[in-house]
Amino acid sequence: MSTARADKRLYRWIDERYGVSPLIEFLRHKEVPLGAHPLFWYFLGGTTLFFFAVQIVSGVLLLVYYQPGENTSYESIRYITTKVPFGWLVRSVHCWSAHLMIVSLVVHMLSTMMLKAYRPPRELTWLTGFLLFNLALGFGFSGYLLPWNELAFFATAVGTDSVKSVPVVGNWLLQVMRGGPDVTINTVYRFFALHICILPILTVGLITVHLIFIQRQGMAPPIAKHVAPRGMRFFPNFALRDLLWWILCLAALLVLALLLPYGPGIPGVEWELGQKADPLAPAYPGIKPEWYFLWIYQLLKEFPPHLFGLEGPQVCLAVVSLLMTTWALVPWLDRKARRDEPSPAFTDFGVGAMLFITFLMLKAWDIGAGAVADGGFPDPAAVARPCAWILLAVAVAVTAVRIAVYRDRWFVFSGAAVLHAVLHGLVGLPYLAAGAIAAAAAALATGFTVARGRTSAMPAGGGH
Ligand code: HEM
Repeated sequence: MSTARADKRLYRWIDERYGVSPLIEFLRHKEVPLGAHPLFWYFLGGTTLFFFAVQIVSGVLLLVYYQPGENTSYESIRYITTKVPFGWLVRSVHCWSAHLMIVSLVVHMLSTMMLKAYRPPRELTWLTGFLLFNLALGFGFSGYLLPWNELAFFATAVGTDSVKSVPVVGNWLLQVMRGGPDVTINTVYRFFALHICILPILTVGLITVHLIFIQRQGMAPPIAKHVAPRGMRFFPNFALRDLLWWILCLAALLVLALLLPYGPGIPGVEWELGQKADPLAPAYPGIKPEWYFLWIYQLLKEFPPHLFGLEGPQVCLAVVSLLMTTWALVPWLDRKARRDEPSPAFTDFGVGAMLFITFLMLKAWDIGAGAVADGGFPDPAAVARPCAWILLAVAVAVTAVRIAVYRDRWFVFSGAAVLHAVLHGLVGLPYLAAGAIAAAAAALATGFTVARGRTSAMPAGGGH
């Protein structure tokens, strides 16, 4: 019997029992829009899914030997990396894949922001995605403590401490997170339950909902194009490209995991085991969280202990919550995109937010601080200056691409982010004062633009 006939019989056998034909038909008709944007942007959600799958597989393998406990957390990770055959590789894959998943998640989120894929009827696709982003951060935070080493202990102590600033329930929340007033092995037990049980269940559930929404609604067509877009068949054309891309991702992941088993050595992107946690040892300066929390860590440092009669961290937390809520509500705030019109202000809002976060991250890395004596802190002005120059260079490059390629003409938010960096890093104003001036300038410029009706007079091709 020829292979083709055997395949057909097998297909018929499965179809008779499970009725898969409608699903295959559906996939045959599903299309990915072509022409308006590079196809690459449509691979990013799948890339995130791929890295999440790697996390589950490598996480289960680590669980075979990992044991949470006062005398076992650190020891079992040490055992995995030194004694278990290829244990070091599994841990390295798990850590690298976690970072790559966050990178692809952030790029996926930004790309759907720039393509305005959140506009009706896809608001809830955006919202479920936003929740997934928060869950991914939760994975990072809870996983960090599990090796119970010095770095994880102090970073978790500092990270959980900021929860105290939540009004009314802050202290209670801190106790719930830590399992007591301090970070102890009880905290490890709680983080372990979160990391291997609660977060995976929530994430798998939400990914399912996210994907069902996408299957029901299809991929978003390009904005303000009133002709039916050309499409590429999802199955098999796009799916095979997806598969090839996943194989390349796997190859890149393995190369990184083999060559740099403990990360590239940049603060926030390293997982050297170091010393076992000792809650009685004094905290050493310069402890930094993972790179995706660095901007919040730095923002907390920029606030004085007291501001407007409130505690500084409380005001900082309010600012971060406001930014995050605005981001989650973008599909409802962007009223032009809701009418299927180009909304360059929101494109610029996305770029401005990225520049704002980049400047904070550069500062958190103490770029340009040079060598600092043991236990000392780098000079803040010496750090802010090179960071402002780098940000300026990045902003110029991004703006040039936006003007030349996308014909963007709206730069109020990105301009404010640059003004903030220049006033702080180059003129020498305190971070918050510079921020207040930049925010006021952005508000004035927006008011002026709206008043002159320029926004509505944007040419159809200007912005996206
Ligand atoms: C674990 C996290 C996530 C996974 C596994 C995931 C997966 C996917 C997949 C496979 C697609 C279809 C292909 C594509 O556009 O790339 C997609 C589309 C989409 N995702 Fe996500 N995603 C995640 C997080 C997010 C986040 C954080 C956001 C935004 C806040 C988001 C918003 C969207 C939107 C709006 C679409 C529709 C795109 C369109 O119709 O063109 N997703 N996602």
